[in-house]
Amino acid sequence: MRLFAKNTSILSGEVDCPGDKSISQRAIIIGALANQNISITGFLNGEDPLSTLSALNQIGADISINNNEVTINERELTFSNPSNSIDLGNSGTGMRLIMGLIAGTGLKATIIGDESLMKRPMSRVSIPLNEMGAKVADSKGLPPIEIKPGVIRDNFAYDMPIASAQVKSSILLAGVASNKKVSIFEPSITRDHTEIMLKHFGLNIKSEEENDGKRITFTPGNKLLAKDYDVVGDFSSAAFLIIAGLIASDSKISIKNVGLNPTRSGLIDILIKMGGNIEIKNKNILSGELVGDIFVESSVLKGVNISGGVIANIIDEIPILSIAAACAEGTTRISDAHELRVKESDRLEAISSGLTKLKVKHELFEDGISIDGGIPKSNNVIEIDSYGDHRIAMSFLISSLKVKHSVSVDNCKNIYTSYPNFVETMNGLGLPISEQ
Ligand code: S3P
Repeated sequence: MRLFAKNTSILSGEVDCPGDKSISQRAIIIGALANQNISITGFLNGEDPLSTLSALNQIGADISINNNEVTINERELTFSNPSNSIDLGNSGTGMRLIMGLIAGTGLKATIIGDESLMKRPMSRVSIPLNEMGAKVADSKGLPPIEIKPGVIRDNFAYDMPIASAQVKSSILLAGVASNKKVSIFEPSITRDHTEIMLKHFGLNIKSEEENDGKRITFTPGNKLLAKDYDVVGDFSSAAFLIIAGLIASDSKISIKNVGLNPTRSGLIDILIKMGGNIEIKNKNILSGELVGDIFVESSVLKGVNISGGVIANIIDEIPILSIAAACAEGTTRISDAHELRVKESDRLEAISSGLTKLKVKHELFEDGISIDGGIPKSNNVIEIDSYGDHRIAMSFLISSLKVKHSVSVDNCKNIYTSYPNFVETMNGLGLPISEQ
């Protein structure tokens, strides 16, 4: 699917933030583990959460969805072996978290994904799960994943070699599913939705800061409670709207119900440092997560240097941050972001390729990119490839707010994995995006 975005200078309106992808997936996994009648509202009805939902139903859960409402029904048997391979589509979170759940429950399963997911590293999860006592085989570090019943040992402790919320969550879920104590050290702080949600559902989870990172411990004893759950809006999806509002020359937009978990929202501080006109109001707590409304106006941005521990916090926002950098005065340098090479695409290559098409001066490094602000005016339609990556596609569609004519982005179908209403939302705000 090719999308075409025509430059405009005015952006205005109020939008509701779509449900958080990471949280939606965790809510159904933890809800299925609880095996009680639970209803979830604000669920992201996008392809990634839907593939996680089918995976859970394949192993015996009883979950149904109606728009953004999910119903989890209590069943007699907790989980059972799937009769076919489980396909997690494009979802790295789905695959890695389900690996932990299946390993911890002692099922036998084969797990696969789409072309992009089949190329993503899985040994970061299979290695610790096997050390825990699970029997997980990957294929030279990649999917397909074959899991056989294993016996999870008690008191497993793991020092994560990389900062990854997916690895942390997979190990935690294996511990919870097998009812065994686990302790995990993360070298820098990653999103803590799993810990917050497990606590919210009544489990004993302790999080302690240690050096620059955190130690997370699950101690069995409590049962998961039957509780309804409200999913907050996805900060990573809001990031596209925030940066659109900052770079458009005449804009005033508000985004309602945005998740503001401090392990996820570091982009706000960076954008304010860049000169962004951003205000947060109506802060509240919803199902244990911080939420609020974000107000944005056109701003003159300037370049910044970004590196170190904050990278894990902004990892999914770097593609759209690169567009803000391309529109800023001066240079923005992002380093320590090697993880971007193993996302839905090699995001550093994909960003560099798009910036080259926009004729934005930049330099690519192994672990980052340096971008000199300024998109030269061109009378042509600028054609960009998203490499099948939803966040690259949305980022470059937003870049049309700063070109003279328009941008056309190829391979946009995967926008449905995380932001199914993206095109309608942008059209509603005033940026014309249509299928070509
Ligand atoms: C996610 C964690 C991050 C993020 C991904 C979603 C999650 O990945 O990039 O989009 O839901 O836990 P890593 O944990 O691999 O850094």
